Amino acid sequence: MSASARRSSGPGLIQSRPLDGTALPARHSAPRSPKRSSPMAQTNTRVFSGIQPSGVPTLGNYLGAIRNWVPLQDTHEAIYCVVDLHAITVWQDPKELARQTREMAAALIACGLDPARCTLFIQSHVHAHARLAWIFNCVARLGWLNRMTQFKDKAGKDREAASSGLYVYPNLMAADILTYHATKVPVGDDQKQHLELANDIAQKFNHDYGVTFFPLIEPLIQGIAARVMSLRDGTKKMSKSDPSDQSRINLTDDQDAIALKIRRAKTDPEPLPESEAGLEGRPEARNLVGILAAITGETHAGVLRHHGGKGFGAFKEVLAEALVAHLGPIRAEMNRLLQDPAALDAALRQGAERADAIATPICDEAERLVGFLPRK
Ligand code: TYM
Repeated sequence: MSASARRSSGPGLIQSRPLDGTALPARHSAPRSPKRSSPMAQTNTRVFSGIQPSGVPTLGNYLGAIRNWVPLQDTHEAIYCVVDLHAITVWQDPKELARQTREMAAALIACGLDPARCTLFIQSHVHAHARLAWIFNCVARLGWLNRMTQFKDKAGKDREAASSGLYVYPNLMAADILTYHATKVPVGDDQKQHLELANDIAQKFNHDYGVTFFPLIEPLIQGIAARVMSLRDGTKKMSKSDPSDQSRINLTDDQDAIALKIRRAKTDPEPLPESEAGLEGRPEARNLVGILAAITGETHAGVLRHHGGKGFGAFKEVLAEALVAHLGPIRAEMNRLLQDPAALDAALRQGAERADAIATPICDEAERLVGFLPRK
């Protein structure tokens, strides 16, 4: 055992074994938490991701993230979280937050997450997230946070009025992942900068305390829909918090709403090009072509082979039909799940218990490394 590994050893056997199969530089070879029996896939790497219940899940969330989470349940130990602590970094009406949290959990299950094959829970139910985030508030440097583009976007012009939670949001995100020693994080393109910061935090913690405790994490940014754009402006990300509902497809939208939003989606006057090069400088056209490609499993070029030369009127009909066929069953399943909130809450409580069993010993060990006296 190396000197640094020895320094990090303590109760709970959290720190002494290397993560198998994770390509980390020796200095950062990650420890692994104790084996436990679970109905989930026993694999080498742990996956973690989260989604904010700050609105209804959108087509962007689905194509850029949720859809990619589903197959990882069978190949990895997958942990997924509805991040209500993150949501309150901007004002949330309490009743709406509670409703949206449940609705988000139902959406995730309806999209294919199976609480028996993954660990699905609500962030505030596992206290390790907030505890480790405080330590990371003291590890991350102000200069690092000042570079976060998402804070600048979300805080807008009146930065003085933004909550301090919004500013330290990336530290909580790092804690979410690292309190599980997760190493793979499937996200959309917009989260990349936050994950780079999480790695900076992990490395600085390891360096400052002379340990190899936190592993390096790898963003998994997959597919051609890693950044789905607004239907009103092809240069802006589709977002659940955009004031205009017309800018997005919600997973709760019915067939008429989807058709109307697609019909009204901003486009340009030219017909669709025959090849991908023709999408250059046409962000709205690229976005709509990309959405159809993601839904049908084609590439941009494949979609254009079928639809190149068509006007947007005809193309939008095809797109709306494909979206209705794909999203209709998800919406129906979501509604079914929401009719039994007690069953949903019970599944989430069980998920929280499993998550807690992994997260708490890792967080306890981080606190011990920092020098906090143990509670028991
Ligand atoms: P959130 O709630 O904004 O989004 C959830 C996931 O959806 C992806 N996404 C998109 N992908 C493609 N196109 C879009 N228009 C689009 N909009 C959103 C996001 O990239 C994300 O993967 N900070 C995170 C939540 C979080 C988290 C974490 C994620 C908290 N802790 C730890 C990973 C690991 C967020 O606000 O996601």
